[in-house]
Amino acid sequence: MFSGSNRKFEAFKDKVWLASPTMHGEELEYVKHAYETNWMSTVGENINEIEKAVTGLIGTKYAVALASGTSALHLAMKLAGEKLYGMPAQGQGALQGKRVFTSDMTFSATVNPIVYEGGIPVFIDTDEETWDMDPVALEKAFEIYPEVKIVVMAHLYGTPSKIDELTAVCDRHGAIIIEDAAESLGATYKGRQTGSFGKYNCISFNGNKIVTGSSGGMLLTDDEEAAKKVRKWSTQSREAAPWYQHEELGYNYRMSNVIAGVVRGQLLHLDEHITLKKRIYERYKEGLKGLPVKMNPIDEKVAVPNYWLSCLIIDRDALCRQTRDDGQALFMGEHGKSCPTEILEAMASVNAEGRPIWKPMHAQPYYRMNAFVTKGGNGRARTNAYIEGGVSDVGMDIFSRGLCLPSDIKMTEEQQDRVIEVIRACFG
Ligand SMILES: Cc1ncc(COP(=O)(O)O)c(C=O)c1O
Repeated sequence: MFSGSNRKFEAFKDKVWLASPTMHGEELEYVKHAYETNWMSTVGENINEIEKAVTGLIGTKYAVALASGTSALHLAMKLAGEKLYGMPAQGQGALQGKRVFTSDMTFSATVNPIVYEGGIPVFIDTDEETWDMDPVALEKAFEIYPEVKIVVMAHLYGTPSKIDELTAVCDRHGAIIIEDAAESLGATYKGRQTGSFGKYNCISFNGNKIVTGSSGGMLLTDDEEAAKKVRKWSTQSREAAPWYQHEELGYNYRMSNVIAGVVRGQLLHLDEHITLKKRIYERYKEGLKGLPVKMNPIDEKVAVPNYWLSCLIIDRDALCRQTRDDGQALFMGEHGKSCPTEILEAMASVNAEGRPIWKPMHAQPYYRMNAFVTKGGNGRARTNAYIEGGVSDVGMDIFSRGLCLPSDIKMTEEQQDRVIEVIRACFG
């Protein structure tokens, strides 16, 4: 139960989720096929078929099905590192001691694989128009660290980055792009699918994604040698010999044919999921009209997102006082104003799941000592991101004013309407 603005809102009997799996039936058929044919391992028809389907959809020449998006990103880092810096010594990563530029406002899995390979992430501030990597800040970063050769960019919440601008900067500095399209499967930039722009790219089939295998991911590339390497590395780097023969370090990263069965069924429904997600975004946009908030920015003239998560951001002058430390948040309610903490608590009290914006990586305790580059040059983490004269840290500004709304495609219109009313009551 939530009381606000002299109104009471009943809690939903069944939880309204941020983004939960939506199954259709075909998934079970393909899983059953794996079971009945006894391909209950990391080999089988489901794997072959989804690799074919994804290359057909995204347009890269090769797709390698892996255990997760994170493992795909890990092997992408290893590929890029070995290509640029050669084979590492035993016990060292392929990026040992090398700086890599990465999106800052993203999920940690974009960044951690840099560290798995011994690299040093340098965080690039966020662009206000896309909520993705800022090309101006990226250019600035190359002025400060001209030796950098790898840039990892995520398309947050399913909205493509400014790919032309970012690619132009990378080309100018001879850097390789790795695209983290984990959240943006099906989104297009100037008519071309995300996941097809970088040299090595990744998608994810994690349980909360636009289509899911319960887990799973893929590495995408046009480079045949790279695809072959990933197939080998992901199956323990076995050589063609009668016994277990190893010339390289191996990983157990290949996708299971059972998981691939779920993915195979889900891929049939990607377009339908995107249509439903878009409807949710548009209904929020309409329903929240008149409030001092905006939805996450989308410009369909350039890029068509997959609308994975709908988010809102509160206008600066309508933000009530809110403070967050490394574990808790507090706010002071004010008439006509609100904040992410108040809205998230209100939604939770009616059994609806929202989430704070992904907290920028440069503000994470683990990465607090890493470099962070803004439009203005070398930045530092600030809790008060908005200072006189402009925003000093776009990521923290969006984090302090924004939140992710329930975006589950099984949410009914009535449920969504109640969520909207609860948000309205927070500003009462
Ligand atoms: C931006 C981003 N990158 C990478 C990942 C990692 O994918 P996975 O969970 O499949 O390892 C996720 C999601 O989990 C993500 O949201």
